[in-house]
Amino acid sequence: MSEVKFYYGDNVPLEMHKVRIVQKLNLVPIERRLEAINEAGNNTFLLKNSDVFMDMLTDSGVNAMSDKQLAAMMQADDSYAGSETFTKLENKIQEIFGTKYFLPAHQGRACENILSQVLVKPGTIVPMNYHFTTTKAHIVLNGGIVEEIFIDEALRIKSDNSFKGNLDIEKLKELIKTHGAEKIAFVRLEAGTNLIGGQPFSLENMEEVRKVCDEFGLLIVLDASLLADNLYFIKQREERCKNMSIREITRAMADLSDVIYFSARKLGCARGGGICTNNEEVYMKIRELIPLYEGFLTYGGMSVREMEAITVGLDETMDEYMINQGPQFIAYMVDELQKKGVPVVTPAGGLGCHINAMEFLSHLPQTLYPAGALASALYLVSGIRGMERGTLSEQRDENGNEPLAHMELLRLALPRRVFTLSQVKYAVDRIAWLYENRELIGGLKFVEEPKILRFFFGKLSTVSDWQTKLVAKFRQDFGDSL
Ligand code: F0G
Repeated sequence: MSEVKFYYGDNVPLEMHKVRIVQKLNLVPIERRLEAINEAGNNTFLLKNSDVFMDMLTDSGVNAMSDKQLAAMMQADDSYAGSETFTKLENKIQEIFGTKYFLPAHQGRACENILSQVLVKPGTIVPMNYHFTTTKAHIVLNGGIVEEIFIDEALRIKSDNSFKGNLDIEKLKELIKTHGAEKIAFVRLEAGTNLIGGQPFSLENMEEVRKVCDEFGLLIVLDASLLADNLYFIKQREERCKNMSIREITRAMADLSDVIYFSARKLGCARGGGICTNNEEVYMKIRELIPLYEGFLTYGGMSVREMEAITVGLDETMDEYMINQGPQFIAYMVDELQKKGVPVVTPAGGLGCHINAMEFLSHLPQTLYPAGALASALYLVSGIRGMERGTLSEQRDENGNEPLAHMELLRLALPRRVFTLSQVKYAVDRIAWLYENRELIGGLKFVEEPKILRFFFGKLSTVSDWQTKLVAKFRQDFGDSL
């Protein structure tokens, strides 16, 4: 994305890439969409892509790749051990993060599985700025307790706080005082905090966390899956970082971390993951588990082609004019929706545009899953597949009680460099129409509820015939349009 000014005052994000490979999309009629969403149990994860127009479910593994990434994939060395491809990736990681050890894993949650097995003991606590679904599941599976110590502003939907992903330093000190440092497994910082709207933390905040951790001998584990967005926001919003390059900011963050792990389905725009550290003791423990769960130490479950793509992708991530595309498209979408009165999370974050379903559907109680209902309704009226990030994404506790999520968000991911501005405009148009007709939307209830990570494959039905009414209103307003 360039900083090109438009003479007539339009402020549109201008792409600094061109499209050279395309995938045909389907926009099936609303009558088919009604069938499809019911076949999928009102769970957008279960929709078939042939029924989806804009896939805004996630940015995971679906970012556009560059010509240089594709070219690199053709020269991968597929030796089982000692592969040249691995050495290239290892060297690139050392160059960018300055870490001595790199252990490959097949994706982000595989790193979480291994790190949790090694660092989490039953009854230990993992303080963090906010949890991610798979992270929490692995920590809990190993008997750990997740303590979210976000700043108060983190959950305020409308805010002008530049760093809603910051960890609350006072609460961290308090937590250590209450439980004792020996009860803390590690402190986890998640870049581009996923579940609260892709919100960043500042470099200054990370430095403060480091000071506390040094005082009490605690490890900092950085989840760098959404690092690209966080880097861009630090450069844009943190005064003292304005003159630092993206590489310098990355290195400063890496130097403050003991362990860095990432999903390369996000960071590096390919598919895979890995753990980086300078800590020999941690490395030796993790190393034993990689061949057990992932694959040999020079591929860790990844294909060599993907590793080549990650190497190039990580290098490209150090380009500010590459990593600003996502946040700038998201900011555009958030601004346009705000102009139409649609409640969205602000400031605009990374990863995607987040709609506040709690306010959008203020007539629905949380027990009827407003974010899930909104995801279902939006698919119905647009063919757009978003993701529920609310109570459905939570897990029941050991007594079967259902915790209500802090927020009910409909996440509309903008995979990097995938959609055009006219597609974003289409999304804004349908969302604004849905907002005007929000009273027609009703709730959902479970028909099939899995015990673990229920949002992935749980099935729900509507509590009334609200979808039929919504279809009728759509036909009335849009005629025979798709
Ligand atoms: N950490 C963060 C912050 C993530 O956003 C994700 C994945 C993971 C870890 C796990 O990585 O998928 O490679 O196993 N987020 C995806 C999403 C699933 O849609 O937001 P993974």
